[in-house]
Amino acid sequence: MRVPFVDLAVRDQTLHAELLSAIGAVLDRGDYILGAEVTAFEQEFAAYCGARFAVGVSSGTSALVLALRALGVGPGAEVITVANSFLSTVSSILLVGARPVLVDVADDENIDVDAVRQAISPRTKAIFPVHLRGRPARMAELIDLAREHDLHVVADCSQAQGARIDAERATILGDLGCFSLHPLKNLPAPGDAGVIVTNHADLAERLRTLRNHGLADRGFAVALGDNARLDTVHAATLRVRLRRLDRDNARRRSIADAYNEAFTELPVVLPARTDGVESVYHHYVMQVSDRTPFLESMSAAGVDVRIHYPVPAHQQPAFTGAVTLAGELRRTEEQAGRIVSLPCSPALSDEQVRIVIDAVREHYRAAAAAWSLAADGVSERT
Ligand SMILES: Cc1ncc(COP(=O)(O)O)c(C=O)c1O
Repeated sequence: MRVPFVDLAVRDQTLHAELLSAIGAVLDRGDYILGAEVTAFEQEFAAYCGARFAVGVSSGTSALVLALRALGVGPGAEVITVANSFLSTVSSILLVGARPVLVDVADDENIDVDAVRQAISPRTKAIFPVHLRGRPARMAELIDLAREHDLHVVADCSQAQGARIDAERATILGDLGCFSLHPLKNLPAPGDAGVIVTNHADLAERLRTLRNHGLADRGFAVALGDNARLDTVHAATLRVRLRRLDRDNARRRSIADAYNEAFTELPVVLPARTDGVESVYHHYVMQVSDRTPFLESMSAAGVDVRIHYPVPAHQQPAFTGAVTLAGELRRTEEQAGRIVSLPCSPALSDEQVRIVIDAVREHYRAAAAAWSLAADGVSERT
């Protein structure tokens, strides 16, 4: 049996009837643009996050760009973030004309708070942590630092729907928490979608204007806006999915727990775990020192493994000369050469999880046998 990294059609089967009925209701009403389901989803998602407002937008990238624009971050400003995220984290800063200042990550693969402290300059306007893989960054320290220097915190929560710190979901948001709702995310739309969550009424209002051509009402543009609205059809399906999110996240966590337990004795670095920090395992990522043979073994065993992400932002040709490196990104680069993402979709069966575990264990059993044969050979010759 092959284990796919993710199988969206299988994942969606159990919700098929509910999703179709939600879409059908929109077709019946015809309120395709900023319809009733958008407002309902925004209210439900804000409540789910423990925040006051949510503004639905057309993608995670739009969420990040509009969040920076709503805060007035633009040319001349610097934004401190990481290089090991999906490209949009850095490109959204460039798209608003600001300068990304890239700092190293800590051992948990999230932004290094000390490196942020050292990177703050008079031009810094925002700190931009990413809750990579679904594991929250050290928000309390980042928020304290931001307050000390009068900065904003924009959090890229794209991989972290439902993640918590100290049992609270609101703790991951910062001033503006930006979520992608891409079909591969923990809370997925059937296409591109995103949402921004905040407790600030003025920012929520500005975001609503910016996502809709800058229109304050039908006739008057009060800002240079974009067409970046969340589609009503997507919002309708997101409401169905939101009711299932905690169950899906619990399944992801139980798969991660099974991997953690099975791989404890292996020569790999398991995902970081910290008391009070609750990951939703958007990706289950471990570090291996023998990545090429590891990937060959997984492929031979029919286990689909990915790398998130193989090339950090500062090594991307598109960003050459456009980003500032605040010191060496030693951990970022080392981790990029060692990370592997194992299948962790909530749709995986127990049997598929077992196949992944067996494949990884077998790889290291065979590798250990080969090393010991080689060592015997050396000792026989000496
Ligand atoms: C961390 C992170 N930021 C931003 C994005 C961009 O989201 P979207 O593809 O919805 O524009 C993604 C999506 O892959 C992501 O994982």
